[in-house]
Amino acid sequence: MAALSAIQRYKLLTSTVVPRPIAWIVTQDAQAIVNVAPFSCFNLMGYTPPVVAIGIQAQDNGEAKDTRANIEANGEMVVNLVTSSDVEQMTRTAANFPPDVDEAEATGLRLTPSITVRPPRIASAPVSLECRLHSLLDVGPSQAIIIGEVLTMHIQDRYLLDSQECLVDTPALVLAGRMHGPGWYVRCDAPFPHQPTGASR
Ligand SMILES: Cc1cc2nc3c(=O)[nH]c(=O)nc-3n(C[C@H](O)[C@H](O)[C@H](O)COP(=O)(O)O)c2cc1C
Repeated sequence: MAALSAIQRYKLLTSTVVPRPIAWIVTQDAQAIVNVAPFSCFNLMGYTPPVVAIGIQAQDNGEAKDTRANIEANGEMVVNLVTSSDVEQMTRTAANFPPDVDEAEATGLRLTPSITVRPPRIASAPVSLECRLHSLLDVGPSQAIIIGEVLTMHIQDRYLLDSQECLVDTPALVLAGRMHGPGWYVRCDAPFPHQPTGASR
């Protein structure tokens, strides 16, 4: 790894550590201007407390991306999950808009209010996680890992098979995973069963 350039490391790692779920993150700045951007260096890291982690790079000019700046400023974000039919909209929000542009308005994205945090959530997302900043770890001059504690979870009724049992129709979500390089995604709707003997989970 040390002998490779940053772009070589990026290409090799992001082409093989797949599929990666996509966190479609909504944040707000001090003037309540909404920022929306996708991040595929993302996953669930635990459930007591419930935490998710996101890897955020700096912009090419070295400055923090708006998502990081907003989370650092007020500690709030909503992580929305991305269906395969939302991929077009999601990629539009990855454009580098200036901080004073409401990216939901600019890309025609419909938002709906959150309950426990100020940033709204994405109306079309089947699942949204309202999060409070747990910790931020700088892991290099131009990248950080942000850990968010999930305070509230929204899941659209039609995907919740049994609310008492917390049983979700996961394949029906048809979430998109990020694959190799720009422009490649996978539909997460073809699970296969496998029950090894002695498995604990
Ligand atoms: C599918 C997808 C996944 C992405 N994943 C990441 C990521 O994990 N980390 C990152 O720093 N940027 C990632 N990006 C790029 C950011 O979305 C992009 O830099 C965006 O402009 C940041 O917006 P902001 O400045 O409003 O925060 C990704 C882009 C796409 C389309």
